[in-house]
Amino acid sequence: MRNAYIAGSGFYVPPRIVTNDDLASEYGIETSDEWIRQRTGIEQRHFADAGTTTSDLAVHASERAIEAAGIDRREIDMVIFATLSPDQFFPGSACFLQQKLGLCDGDDATFVAALDIRNQCSGFVYGLATATSMVRSGQHDNVLLVGSEIHSAALDLTTRGRTVGSLFGDAAGAVIVRATDEDRGVRAWDLGADGRFADQLAMKVFDFHNRPYIATDEAGNGVVPVDLLWPIMEGQVVFRNAIARMIESLTNLCEKEDVALGDIDLFLCHQANLRINQMVQNRIGAPEEKFFNNIQKYGNTTAATIPILIDEAIQAGRLERGMKVALVAFGAGFTWGSALIDW
Ligand code: ACO
Repeated sequence: MRNAYIAGSGFYVPPRIVTNDDLASEYGIETSDEWIRQRTGIEQRHFADAGTTTSDLAVHASERAIEAAGIDRREIDMVIFATLSPDQFFPGSACFLQQKLGLCDGDDATFVAALDIRNQCSGFVYGLATATSMVRSGQHDNVLLVGSEIHSAALDLTTRGRTVGSLFGDAAGAVIVRATDEDRGVRAWDLGADGRFADQLAMKVFDFHNRPYIATDEAGNGVVPVDLLWPIMEGQVVFRNAIARMIESLTNLCEKEDVALGDIDLFLCHQANLRINQMVQNRIGAPEEKFFNNIQKYGNTTAATIPILIDEAIQAGRLERGMKVALVAFGAGFTWGSALIDW
């Protein structure tokens, strides 16, 4: 049987580290290391400088994943790009990445399929389900799947925006989803969404209720009111739903595959808040050593969190061939998803 497995992974964070204390001292935000660390577990995040785009970060992560998979970039036959912070409103970032990876250059240009996924924090899991389906169906052999975000450009880094502004960081993570005849790889997934909560976690800067979508002044320049400019979030609603949906999704996943939650060797959860993941861990009764978290170093990097976790878990010797791994994520939409992998 044709299966799909993760043949290689890589990640990239921009070099500039911004600690919780830096948010107060450099940005003048009324916050403290203690407040952020206690409620979220976050200690620092990385911010990219102006001039860097989401697809730029994705290039570095992709090159590392391609190298780890031991393939030539010309063997990639599809690019899937999960992000909520695309380089621009359109076209999608997968096209920019495809071009920057050189897949459009020379006589052997491949011009492979390029697809953006706009499912925020669960974008990587939705992307993995899509990539796996493409591979299993025989349409593609090597899908490059990337989660990449530049949040720092669209955060209100003032006291007014501190609730959201202190959570997010910039980063990219990538994997190669590859065909194999071996009995391994992505076994199943569980995806869901609840559009009733679409307004609870959102960014409405392009407001298509309006004509035109951005109000203009007399000179024809766009004018955006401050409540549309930045992301909005009902933090406690997100918090509660994240725990409930992640547990529900993991339970559905295990039922589908007829495995017990206790059979899972490693849980790689989306990194939105360490407290969310600790509550998931406690409620499913899993030991702490089966969870691997890195939000302390990177903050919430949305679609990039899970591929970064995969790569760091491999580097740390926590993720090895033969293990049963569960990925689970929850985010804006609300959307959520989980996937079971025999590594
Ligand atoms: N520093 C200091 N004070 C702060 C900060 C900060 N960084 N942020 C908020 N506060 C203040 C608020 O202004 C508020 O003050 P007030 O009482 O004077 O008005 C007070 O702290 C309490 O604010 P709450 O928002 O009620 O704080 P809460 O305990 O809910 O914690 C948090 C906020 C950490 C954001 C939490 O709600 C959370 O983690 N929610 C989940 C968020 C999440 O998972 N998002 C991920 C999805 S992202 C995606 O999909 C794109």
